[in-house]
Amino acid sequence: MCSPIQELDELRKNLPTTFIAGPRLRRNVATVSIVGLGPVGLTTAVAFATQGHQVTGIDIDERRRSEVARGEPPFYEKGLEGGLKRALRQKRLKIVDRMEDALRASTIVFLCVGTPSKPDGSMDDGPLRDATKSVANAWRDGKARTLVVKSTVLPGTVESVVRPVLEAAGVPFRIAVNPEFLREGRALEDALRPDRIVLGVDRPGTARILRALYRSVRSPVLVTDVRTAESVKYATNALLASKVSLANELANLCDYFGVEYDEVLRGVALDPRINAQFLVPGVGFGGSCFPKDVRALVAAGTANGYRPELFEAVLALNDRQYGRAIALLEKELGDLAGRRIALLGLAFKGNTDDVRESRAVPIARDLVARGAMVVGYDPAAMDGFSKLVPDVRRAKSVEEALKGADGCILQADWPAFSRLTAKDFVKLMASPVVVDGRRILDPKKMKGVRFHRIG
Ligand code: UDX
Repeated sequence: MCSPIQELDELRKNLPTTFIAGPRLRRNVATVSIVGLGPVGLTTAVAFATQGHQVTGIDIDERRRSEVARGEPPFYEKGLEGGLKRALRQKRLKIVDRMEDALRASTIVFLCVGTPSKPDGSMDDGPLRDATKSVANAWRDGKARTLVVKSTVLPGTVESVVRPVLEAAGVPFRIAVNPEFLREGRALEDALRPDRIVLGVDRPGTARILRALYRSVRSPVLVTDVRTAESVKYATNALLASKVSLANELANLCDYFGVEYDEVLRGVALDPRINAQFLVPGVGFGGSCFPKDVRALVAAGTANGYRPELFEAVLALNDRQYGRAIALLEKELGDLAGRRIALLGLAFKGNTDDVRESRAVPIARDLVARGAMVVGYDPAAMDGFSKLVPDVRRAKSVEEALKGADGCILQADWPAFSRLTAKDFVKLMASPVVVDGRRILDPKKMKGVRFHRIG
């Protein structure tokens, strides 16, 4: 028996180079339906179409369906619009209104519906249950097909929610969990060239079907059981979120000790057991995955009699980390009432228009509560952010946001912000006080700027 790590190394060495024929694939082209055209579903649909499969996309939201059918992704994602237009033009992707037709015509159906948080942090499985019911209804013709859950679901969900619905309908089915590891802003790239493919399957035949579907992707494939695949996704996000909080905790301590975090990390990363990726400190993590998934894990553990205190701390630290950026502004400017503060980057990170759990939200609300006048700018997230925090003034450019400002917080790592120079701040701002919440600027090049970052 070798360890899981050795097995993975073996998998990496023996990347699948030959096509493993799936029983339901003719001419290596699969007919796939994607239920749910959000960031994950639409990216997956475009990726499969790009790989030559015949894809049908379905969504309960009529407006979303028509936007996608016109070749307009309802959100910003690098490369997606081009890929979508190409897939539609080549007729590899079609968007349909009648769910049943698509579900019947495909041999593999991917569920990519959302698994939002309930107010107590636990996972709401309602959309998943509803989507499974639609699949079950459409599959009453007796043909055996494969249902793949790509939505992020807690371990045990497929067995307790999805399988019972299909069984109650009496339809034949195969079932699998195939979690996604898509980073917003690079989602299409990640879908086309994933670092790994995890297939949690009910039986070996299901694995063969899915390996055939992914035949053109040269990535390690881990075939495992359904519950383990569900767990891999949560474990990955919980670990990555913990790394960010760990970096923030260390950086906060570095501030107290008066040492430079980057130098400490450099020394630490020489230890081959420590991987320096995802250890960039700042104002904390946001987005649609980390906060939601770690909260769901905490809620599920607690409900099952185990309180995951480490993950509770990861969230608690993240909730207050943004405050350090405000404290640095206050250190320079004193009372912030009446001060004009430029907030650069309103999305939860650069290269996306997603404002879900963006740290810009608590930063802006806190500044406004202190009586500051906040001027926000983001290359893609202005509208989404204004709906959440209407009190923030909207600037049309970085320059407009910085003009006359007493202080500035950089909240997202947009490339346009990393090109800012000391001259820009000195020329435009009333007082050049800059807090870099994402470590995108080089402090050595910030002559004449009262420049701060965490750690
Ligand atoms: C994440 C996972 O990376 C992806 O695999 C999963 O499928 C979905 O969740 P995403 O939410 O797009 O992807 O963002 P990511 O790039 O991972 O960053 C998450 C948050 O952590 C951002 O707010 C980012 O600014 C922050 N972060 C990341 C840090 O503060 N420091 C780091 O070192 C890395």
